[in-house]
Formats: sequence, C-alpha cells, structure tokens
Amino acid sequence: MVKKKVGVLVSGRGSNLQALLDASSDPAFPAEIVLVVSNVAGAFALERAAKAGVPTCVVSHKDYASREAFDAVMDGHLRAAGVEIVCLAGFMRLLSSSFVRGWEGRMINIHPSLLPSFKGLHTHAQAIEAGVKLHGCTVHLVTSDLDDGPILVQAAVPVLADDTPDSLAARVLEQEHKAYPQALRLLAEGKVTVEGRRALIHGPGVNIPVNPAP
Ligand code: GAR
Repeated sequence: MVKKKVGVLVSGRGSNLQALLDASSDPAFPAEIVLVVSNVAGAFALERAAKAGVPTCVVSHKDYASREAFDAVMDGHLRAAGVEIVCLAGFMRLLSSSFVRGWEGRMINIHPSLLPSFKGLHTHAQAIEAGVKLHGCTVHLVTSDLDDGPILVQAAVPVLADDTPDSLAARVLEQEHKAYPQALRLLAEGKVTVEGRRALIHGPGVNIPVNPAP
C-alpha cells in the first residue's frame, strides 16, 4: 500500500499528534507522518515526534513580520517533505487564506466542540455555560473561515451536571483521539468528496457516529 504523506502542525502538548502517530504505526493505516512542524520551540509535541522517529521543525511566528511570511516558510517545509495531507493538531495560529487555498481539500483540523456550536477558544466552558447536554469534537476540512469547513467526523459525549471545563475537556479529549485517526483514514483512502458545505463519505461502514454512553 502506498501511504499518504502527512504533515502535522502543532503548538503544544500533542496528544492528538500522539493518537495519529499511534494509528499510523499500524502497517494497514493508509497514512504516514513525515513531518511535524511547531510554532512553539518547547512544545511537548516535538518530543513525541522525536520519540516516534519523525522529523520535526520549529517555525516561530515571532520571527516573521506577517502571517503570510510565516505561513510561506511552513508551506516550504511541508512541500519539501513531500506532504500530501496537513493535519492541524492543537495548532493555535490562524492561517492565511493563501496557505489555506494551497491545501484546499487536503488540510484537516480537530476542534473541541460539536461544530457549528462553540467556535473559538474555551469551548468546554462555553458548552457548560450554554447548558447543552451533549458536547464533543469535530474533525473538519479547513477553509478560510475559523472553525468552519466540511465536517468529516464528530463524536459526542454527555455533559454531566457537575462537570467543570477540565472534566468535560478530558471526556472530549478521549473521543478526539479516536475521531482524528478515523477522519485521517477517510481522507487518505480517498473516501471524501465535498458538495457545497458538506463532506460526503463514500464506502460501506465509514460513517458511523460515535455516541455517548447511555
Ligand atoms: C485539543 O483539544 C484540540 O481539539 C484543541 O486543542 C487541544 C490540543 O491538544 N484545538 C483547538 O482548540 C483548535 N481550535 P493536544 O495538543 O493534546 O492535541
């Protein structure tokens, strides 16, 4: 099997990167991570990549005068590594529209809410404050609108009466680690097409929603 080459952009802890690394260590997984790029020098995600033997580079946004210049350097690293799919995994910088256009249909992000609810930051606090009974995570294709774009996979969890943002985040994170490899697999296997705002998933048994425990 020819595996799709994946570049992962990170800014921090990298637990979603770890889930992707773990999934791609399976010879049957259709994608391999060939580069991890961080905008933060000390990010723990870099240690995870190094431990897995994956090349890393740091491109600090602070070294560039504009978003476009920063993105162009990242883009150069990704293309030099032969990357075909970009995964944003806790990458906390907005991307310029030219970078997004260059990876259209080939760049995915994981967001800690059931989009289109609770875009932006502090999603777990937003969910508790709104009183929703279900919360979760979304993996979506990236467009130039923040936390928007065709949805590939979502996973839901219950919101419990005594949840704090941290307890809810931990419950959602467990699902993130399942949803992200599932979405990358779909994209790498060519099972995704886009029609308007919708991602259509093709093939038997690939569109199984993850539901909260009863
Ligand atoms: C994850 O919860 C991810 O969904 C979120 O940041 C966390 C990164 O954790 N991403 C965003 O909020 C992007 N808008 P990780 O570094 O352990 O994967």
